[in-house]
Amino acid sequence: MTRIDTENRSPFPIPFGWFQIGWGGDLKPGEVKPLEYFGRHLALWRDDNGVAKLNSAHCPHLGAHLAYGGTVHGEELTCPFHGWRFTADGRNSHIPYSQRINKKACLDTFPVVERNGLLMAWYHPDGSEPQWEVPEVPEFNDPDNFTEVITREYVIEAPWQELAENGVDSAHFRYVHHTEEVPELVSYDTDGHLAQMRSIQKFPTPRGVVDGRIDADSHGPGFSVIRFGGIVDTVLMGCNSPITPNRCHMRFTFTVRRLGDDAINSTVGQAFVDEIDKQVQEDTPIWQNKAYIARPALADTDGPFTKFRRWASQFYAEPVDDGADVYVPQDAYPFEPLETASRKYGSDPFQS
Ligand code: FES
Ligand SMILES: [Fe+2]
Repeated sequence: MTRIDTENRSPFPIPFGWFQIGWGGDLKPGEVKPLEYFGRHLALWRDDNGVAKLNSAHCPHLGAHLAYGGTVHGEELTCPFHGWRFTADGRNSHIPYSQRINKKACLDTFPVVERNGLLMAWYHPDGSEPQWEVPEVPEFNDPDNFTEVITREYVIEAPWQELAENGVDSAHFRYVHHTEEVPELVSYDTDGHLAQMRSIQKFPTPRGVVDGRIDADSHGPGFSVIRFGGIVDTVLMGCNSPITPNRCHMRFTFTVRRLGDDAINSTVGQAFVDEIDKQVQEDTPIWQNKAYIARPALADTDGPFTKFRRWASQFYAEPVDDGADVYVPQDAYPFEPLETASRKYGSDPFQS
């Protein structure tokens, strides 16, 4: 008999890794913003020297949320309720109506790096140190040859692993995305936190069919770089950040190699973004309503699901359930177009 779990839609806890918590350009020095990721309430702030910090949101004194009225003074964050101050590593540094500090009053601190225009935070349920680095992606640091970025973001009611598994699912492109040519997998290799997929896709052009390349590098569960080559070089950073175990904030940041003409660049970039956006819209009703099948019945020509799942399993520090064969969603998510946000900007936080 199939064992069905109707209370948990996935056997997985929140994975550890680097996760995008914003774009650098959206956080000005002195700003404090409330966020929810990793099943936690968080306060993201930028100190007066321009360095971004992430702490647990609720003040250890009497529980005020530091991002609702909290203020930045130099390199410290001040609580709106009774004026206590905290350093970036979460220690109480000042109580305005006392001569002493409270050494036990601590905020949790999450390491933050700002790279490629993204704000990335390290999450581990034990609070342990980062195990790898967020790589610098040359195309997002080369404004002479690559356009300003275009971004898209979505909130999707599904665990990150279901979204990430889409990459190795070559067969779904024909049925969900109606692409005539299915990308042909050349290789899929994993090495520690890194997973690298190389595929070839045929694109019809007025001058005949061109072989396009798709190179996808995933650096842990939260950060992937996908390069599309062949016709126009387009690069995309794809980031999935768990809000809860079963809800994800998905963000894309795109750039296109400059072709010498701004109008052409922006048409090419926009067409590409629209195609990816269409694919997310098509995938979402499946992601949000699918069950997790622990031992899927695969065809011999299906993509490297087993290898992908083995790679994904290393990012769970907390127990993974193995009491059921099928984990089903508790809610139905009827098809509704996702709300999307699209913006264009540079990544300098000091620029308005
Ligand atoms: S609750 Fe933050 S200072 Fe009192
Ligand atoms: Fe898809």
